[in-house]
Amino acid sequence: MGLQWTYSAVLCATFLLFAAPQCFAHRLEANRSAVLMIDASPQSGRKIPDTLFGIFFEEINHAGAGGIWAELVSNRGFEAGGPNTPSNIDPWFIIGDESSIYVSTDRTSCFSRNEVALRMDILCEEGGCPSDGVGIYNPGFWGMNIEEKEKYKLVLYVKSLNSINISVSLTSSDGSQNLASANILADSSVVSNWTRMELILESVATNRTARLQLTTTKKGVIWFDQVSLMPLDTYKGHGFRKELISMVEDLKPRFIRFPGGCFVEGEWLRNAFRWRETIGPWEERPGHFGDVWMYWTDDGLGYLEFLQLAEDLGTAPIWVFNNGRISHNDQVDTTSIFPFVQACLEHNSIEFARGSSDTKWGSVRAKLGHPEPFTLEYVAVGNEDCWKKNYRGNYLKFYDAIKAAYPDIKIISNCDGSSKPLDHPADLYDYHVYTSASRLFKMNNAFDKTSRTGPKAFVSEYAVTGSDAGTGSLLAALGEAAFLIGLERNSDAVEMASYAPLFVNANDRRWNPDAIVFNSWQQYGTPSYWIQTFFTESSGAFFHPSNIQANFSDTLATSAITWQNPEDNSNYLKIKIVNFGSDYVTLKISVKGLEAAINSLGSTTVLTSSNLMDENSFANPKKVIPVSDTLPNAAENMDVVLSPRSLTSFDLQLNRVEYISAI
Ligand code: AHR
Repeated sequence: MGLQWTYSAVLCATFLLFAAPQCFAHRLEANRSAVLMIDASPQSGRKIPDTLFGIFFEEINHAGAGGIWAELVSNRGFEAGGPNTPSNIDPWFIIGDESSIYVSTDRTSCFSRNEVALRMDILCEEGGCPSDGVGIYNPGFWGMNIEEKEKYKLVLYVKSLNSINISVSLTSSDGSQNLASANILADSSVVSNWTRMELILESVATNRTARLQLTTTKKGVIWFDQVSLMPLDTYKGHGFRKELISMVEDLKPRFIRFPGGCFVEGEWLRNAFRWRETIGPWEERPGHFGDVWMYWTDDGLGYLEFLQLAEDLGTAPIWVFNNGRISHNDQVDTTSIFPFVQACLEHNSIEFARGSSDTKWGSVRAKLGHPEPFTLEYVAVGNEDCWKKNYRGNYLKFYDAIKAAYPDIKIISNCDGSSKPLDHPADLYDYHVYTSASRLFKMNNAFDKTSRTGPKAFVSEYAVTGSDAGTGSLLAALGEAAFLIGLERNSDAVEMASYAPLFVNANDRRWNPDAIVFNSWQQYGTPSYWIQTFFTESSGAFFHPSNIQANFSDTLATSAITWQNPEDNSNYLKIKIVNFGSDYVTLKISVKGLEAAINSLGSTTVLTSSNLMDENSFANPKKVIPVSDTLPNAAENMDVVLSPRSLTSFDLQLNRVEYISAI
C-alpha cells in the first residue's frame, strides 16, 4: 500500500477518535477498490486537437463593460438613457442643489453617431457656490478601484461660452477623501467649440469604491461629452484589466469565442451587436443597450479589441456573428436575406480582421493601428438558432458567400450533429449543454457514439447549472471534470470546448454560476475555474486508452495523456480521475507500454472539499482550490487512494530515454 493510503488511514484513525458516527459510516465504505489499466505505448496514443480547450467570452454579467475592459467611467458619453432628450444620465449624479446647479441633456455633441451631451447650468455666483463647487460625479461600475501611486488618463470633451475653471478629482465614494485632482482652465476662445482635454491623475491613496468628480464654482454653462478614465497600467497596454486577464492566461486557452452568446443576437435585432459600430475612435462609438442581459455598453471593448486580446493571449479568435439578422424575437426571412449577406461581405468583418492593409477593410484596421492581419480562421454563424424557421436558409446564404470569398475559413453551424448527421455543410457544429451535476457526469460518454466522419463538435458552452451549482460549487465542478474527461476521450469527434459563462461581476449576476468572479478590485476562481486548470496540458497532447475495473465504476471517470513540456522538452504521463462517489477509493494503477520509465518522484494535485456544495468567495477565495503534493515512489504499478468527491491528477515525469549508438 502506498504512502497515500497510509496517510489516509492515519487520518481516518484520527477521525475515529473524535467524530465517531460519520467516520464509522465512512470507514465501513472505505474499502472500495478499483483497478486502472493504462496502455501508454506510443502506438496507442491519439493526438488531441491543438485547439481542444479554450474560453468563451460573452458580454454578460458586466464581464466586459465594468469587467475586463478597464474603462472606469460608466456611461461616458451620456448615451445610456437613449437618444431622446431629456434622458436619464444614470449612473452620473449631481453635486449641488437645485438653487446652485441645473443639469440636463441635449443633442449638441460634436459626435454625429452619439449626439447626446450633458449640459450643466451653474446658477451660483462665485463666492456663493459651495466651497467644493457644484457639478457631477460618476461612481463607475459600483465604485472605481483607484490605487495609490497608480496613474489614470482622463479624457473629456468640453464646451462653454465662457472661460472655464473645472476641478477634476478622484475622491472616496462620499467625496470626503481626495485621491487625486487637477484643474482644467481654459479661455472662452478655446472652449467655445467642443474641445478635447486630456490629463493624467496620480492617486495619493488607495480607495476601492472611488468616484470621478467634475466640479466648478464659476457661474455659467458648461457642456460635457465622452468622459473617459483609464488606468495607464493595463494588460500589454491594450486596455484590459491585468489581474483578470492573468487568470485567463493561467487557463492557457487555445481559442477565444466572442462576443456571445445571446449578446450577439439581442432580444430584438435593433439591439444586437453590430461590429461596425464598435470600431474606430472610442469617442465616436454609439454604444448600445444589450437587451438580453439588460445593460448598456459604451462598446469601448469592440471587435478590434477582441481580436487584439486574442492576439495578446496567443490564442485563436472565433468570431460569432448574427446569422442573417436573427434575434430572440424577430428574424429576417431567407427570401429577403440577400442584402444582408451582401452587406456582410461589403462591410466585411472578416476582411477587417484578416485582409491585408491594401484591402478596403484591412486598410481601416491598419489606420486604427494594426497593419498586420489577425489570424481569423473560425466564424460561427449565429448562436443557438438552429431551431428557428429561417436559420438554415439564412445560414446557407452566409455559408456560400463566406466560402466563396474565404475558402479556408472554418464555418460553425448552430445545429447539433452529435446524434445524427447535419443536413447542411459545415466545418464544425456548435453544442451547448447546461444541466445537473449527475447528468453532466454521465454525459462523459455523450460523444462515444458520434460519427467520426462528419463535422466535429465545438462544445462552446458547457456547465452544471441550477441547484447543484449555486454560484459555483465543488459538486458542479466535478460533474464538469468528468464531462471534460469524456471530451478528451472523444477528441476525435470533438475539436473544441469552453465553459460558460467565463466572468461575472458580483454586482450584476445575470447568470450563475460562472468561472471567474470579480468586483472592482478582487477576483477569485470558482471550482469550475480550477477544474479547467487540470486540462491545460491536454490540447495537443496524446490521449491513451485506459480501462477501469470496479463494481462502482459509474462514479469514476478517468483519462490518461502524455505530453511534452515545451520549456525543457521533458515528457509526462498525466492521469486524471474524478471520484464522484462519497467514499475513499483505493486504486491500483498499472501502466503498460511506456517508452521510458516513470521517475520515482511524481506529484499529485487534488481538488476536493469537506462539503459538496462548498464554494469560494471574496472572503475565502481558496476554500476549494487544487492542492499539490509530491508523490514519492511513483511507478508503473502503484496503489493510491482517491479522496471522496474529488478530482485527482497524477503527474508522472518520464525519465529521458538514452539512445546508445549501435556503431
Ligand atoms: O452562457 C450564457 C448563455 O447561455 C449564452 O448567452 C447563451 O448562448 C446560452 O443560452
